[in-house]
Amino acid sequence: MSDDLIQLGYLAAAVLFILGLRGLARPRTAVRGNQLGALGMLVAVVVTLTDQQIIGYGTLAAGLAVGAVIGGLLATRVQMTGMPQLVALFNGFGGAASLLVAAAGFVEVLDVDDPDTQTSVATAAALAIGAVTLTGSLVAFAKLQELVGGGAVPSPVLRVTNIALTLAVVGLGIGLVADPARWWMWALMAVALVLGITLVTPIGGADMPVVIALLNSLSGLAAAAAGFILDNSLLIIAGSLVGASGFLLTGIMCRAMNRTLTNVLFGSIEAGGVAADADEVYAGRVTSSTADDVALLLETADRVAMIPGYGMAVAQAQHAVRDLTRALEERDVEVVFGIHPVAGRMPGHMNVLLAEAEIPYEQLLEMDTINPTFDRTDVVIVIGANDVVNPEARENPESPIAGMPILDVDRARTVVVVKRSLSPGFAGIPNPLFAADNTLMLFGDGRGAVEDMTKALAEL
Ligand code: TAP
Repeated sequence: MSDDLIQLGYLAAAVLFILGLRGLARPRTAVRGNQLGALGMLVAVVVTLTDQQIIGYGTLAAGLAVGAVIGGLLATRVQMTGMPQLVALFNGFGGAASLLVAAAGFVEVLDVDDPDTQTSVATAAALAIGAVTLTGSLVAFAKLQELVGGGAVPSPVLRVTNIALTLAVVGLGIGLVADPARWWMWALMAVALVLGITLVTPIGGADMPVVIALLNSLSGLAAAAAGFILDNSLLIIAGSLVGASGFLLTGIMCRAMNRTLTNVLFGSIEAGGVAADADEVYAGRVTSSTADDVALLLETADRVAMIPGYGMAVAQAQHAVRDLTRALEERDVEVVFGIHPVAGRMPGHMNVLLAEAEIPYEQLLEMDTINPTFDRTDVVIVIGANDVVNPEARENPESPIAGMPILDVDRARTVVVVKRSLSPGFAGIPNPLFAADNTLMLFGDGRGAVEDMTKALAEL
């Protein structure tokens, strides 16, 4: 391949990445954005391997085939509820790749000559960030996969250790730049690997998604630093895009949970407040109902809001929800969906499920849009959501989730909550909504309960 063609290929891949990211910003264009990003990555891999004359076309084709099979299996086999773990692993592999590239590049240069300052600085950054991302992501994976306890581990000892290790990593990085030698590299790598473990270990509970987004951002920064070592502009562009978008997502999630990043990294949700006792909240105040009762309510409603949460994903109830929506619309009932930014277990979780069931995007309303409309909503159906509709966040400054913005469903005329029991959600705290005067609990699996409602409505 001629040099011009290679440069053109790099440029095309960078443009595809940018267009892909732009597409991912809206549900309507997200699928196209994803495809453009994947195409960009394919162009980038082919051009890089050809440019560096690393492998012949036969090996390239075989590699693409094996990669496509692994990707296809992961995409079809991994449950939506397991996506955060998968993303954690991907982040870790990204960090590991940058770490290996940095170490190999540095050793290669050292064998010939002293590296210039750009290479040393980039090596120190890629080693430190790549190593923290690798072990941090593995700990995050283990927590999310429940291989180890997933809760927060508030520990003053770990907090002090983290500060000491961060200072050590910075010191070793400066040492490597000032006096490029192999032992600095090994020492920096070792300390940064330990820092990744101690940094993520104390974090848990509802803060995990923020950590995953932050690790995603770090994996991008490590790749960008590796791009400076290889003098590869595409790696610098792609890494910076991942770094910046991951960081913006981290900020959005922190705001959605009313947490600062420092609080997520160095505090813990349990340490933030005192949860009420479940018996006190629920005793004698919970009203159970049946699908037939709810159908009677729906029959006379003008406006219904559906609030999906993690339980809808577990029950795979999105298709049943679509059928109920259509049945209501046939009766001239206005149906909207309220989407909380951290409902479910990953950013955009509810949007993806509802899009899969072909619910029109126009019906999906963001929290700030739907909140002022609840007081003129006849029935709200909460399907497997809990923390994102917990009024404690708004009303109890002592609550562990105090200040987290919520969907104000309790302001609607009637609230129907579909879940299997009174168990708490991700944050592990009781929800007074379930005991409110205008709330009916419909206990059962999300999918079955919604199907029963549709059947009962048809029979009226
Ligand atoms: P949660 O508060 O986690 O509540 C989910 C509820 O679904 C549970 O109370 C559970 O109750 C119910 N459920 C589970 N399986 C069900 C089934 N088969 N049928 C019906 N209900 C079922 O969910 P949420 O309101 O979506 O809030 C999300 C929480 O996760 C927040 O605390 C958020 O901070 C955190 N988080 C978010 C993300 C992102 S980025 N979205 C990532 C990780 C964590 P039962 O067991 O009684 O059925």
